[in-house]
Amino acid sequence: MESTAPNSTLSNNILEIQDIEKIFNEGKRNEVNVLKGIDFQMQAGQFFALMGPSGSGKSTLLNIVGGLLKSSAGTVKIKNIDIYSLKDDQLTALRGANIGWIFQSFGLIDNLTALENIIVPLNLAGIKDKDAYTRAMELLSLVGLEDRADHFPDGLSGGQKQRVAIARALANDPLILYADEPTGNLDTKTGVEIIEIFKKLTKMGKSILMVTHDVKLAHAADQVFILRNGKVEAEMEI
Ligand SMILES: Nc1ncnc2c1ncn2[C@@H]1O[C@H](COP(=O)(O)OP(=O)(O)OP(=O)(O)O)[C@@H](O)[C@H]1O
Ligand SMILES: [Mg+2]
Repeated sequence: MESTAPNSTLSNNILEIQDIEKIFNEGKRNEVNVLKGIDFQMQAGQFFALMGPSGSGKSTLLNIVGGLLKSSAGTVKIKNIDIYSLKDDQLTALRGANIGWIFQSFGLIDNLTALENIIVPLNLAGIKDKDAYTRAMELLSLVGLEDRADHFPDGLSGGQKQRVAIARALANDPLILYADEPTGNLDTKTGVEIIEIFKKLTKMGKSILMVTHDVKLAHAADQVFILRNGKVEAEMEI
């Protein structure tokens, strides 16, 4: 494990974390030491699953590697950049350009169509009008929903909503996708369809870190990490 000066050992890792610790409410009576030293690296095209009991810190870890929450100790590198060395606006830019998020509850905007839900982040990234429309249609077709472009979320099944959410997460062509229980609201068959899309995306070079409670779905990943008592207790190479 490298611990020398930045840039001396540039790696192919898209994401690299070392000695990550997280303590909430440090020094107070309600202090919780959630993460007690976590290390791993993820390269382009890798698909990792993160499992562990409720409250073990899976979402906390995802928020840390996504740069949304600062760890109490340790380093997080995205594309070899130590994110804690960045100013807030630089970190925001790094996140926006490199990370897509997918959640259990989909997070679609109800009064926008599937297509418009994807156009929103494109517009925010400065892609407008016909370019945004074309890109959004491409993304919808990538997730097999080009024929549902004009449907509002309540006219879509759970699996279709999650596919729109995946297309939206891909709007800025991020390298990394973080998915927090993406199949938690779906039946098993629909969950498997979502995993198939993830596998297709990894073949396109995306790196995916997915939190799941579903052992079967986790085993579709290249590697499964189990978080327990603040440590990655077991790693299964598939
Ligand atoms: N902002 C916070 N302040 C204080 N404690 C927190 C905070 N966020 C999380 N925790 C605590 O950290 C622990 C881990 O929470 P986290 O949400 O990461 O668990 P999880 O593994 O994602 O659980 P689940 O499977 O239920 O989603 C829990 O004990 C939780 O109460
Ligand atoms: Mg969670």
